Amino acid sequence: MAIHLQIVEHPADVALAAAQHVCAQIRERSDAVLGLATGSTPEATYAELVRNHRAGTLSFARVRSVNLDEYRGLDGLHEQSYRYYMRQHLFDQVDMLPWNALLLDGTAVDGAAECRAYEERIRALGGVDLWMLGIGGNGHIAFNEPGSSRESRTRCVALAPETIADNSRLFAVPAEVPRQAYTAGIATIMEARRILLLATGAHKAAAVAAALHGEVGAHCPASFLRGHADCTFVIDRQAASQLPGV
Ligand code: GLP
Repeated sequence: MAIHLQIVEHPADVALAAAQHVCAQIRERSDAVLGLATGSTPEATYAELVRNHRAGTLSFARVRSVNLDEYRGLDGLHEQSYRYYMRQHLFDQVDMLPWNALLLDGTAVDGAAECRAYEERIRALGGVDLWMLGIGGNGHIAFNEPGSSRESRTRCVALAPETIADNSRLFAVPAEVPRQAYTAGIATIMEARRILLLATGAHKAAAVAAALHGEVGAHCPASFLRGHADCTFVIDRQAASQLPGV
């Protein structure tokens, strides 16, 4: 159950390779259920998918999607909400049908009910075919911060101080950075039939090395991916720079 490792030269090559995996999935099943991620890493991958769509070689008309996470308290019109991000980078740029895109509602009045319903909706879709992930500098996946268990499900979490600091660059004033988020759990993600983790840059090298070669455990949530039957890491040279023998 080793993780497939695809090391490429530059971030642009990560985007090309990741887009190829997504295109292959949609070609295999036009109504594929895609798990999607936000953050700066997958932006170039979405741009590549949009390019394929505009070239007429890729349609999202039957694709369904679920997203990893959402900040608590932000509605979809907030420019830093993940719903806004997804519309900006993918949904509004391709022929995706709005009702086929499932995201957690950051403004849900009953957060626990929202999380339960999310799990049920993913189940009703028949599960996720391919879930694309990024990785946090502290080894988090989605917003499963260090300390998250292998059995965790969709829930509301407190963000780690380093995640709040990382994300503060995106907000006008630090006080605006959300302290909590809704996130799919590690067990939720691990149920996907295939997983694709993307990482670029030297600032991800330690997290990538810990995920692939450190002890498996909650201190590094991405390390749990080593227990998945079909997981591929697509990373650039810099993100691979702390791997033994690379
Ligand atoms: C956020 C997201 C994660 C993402 C991580 C890394 O915390 N919730 O899903 O993987 O950031 O983001 P970036 O790609 O910007 O480094």
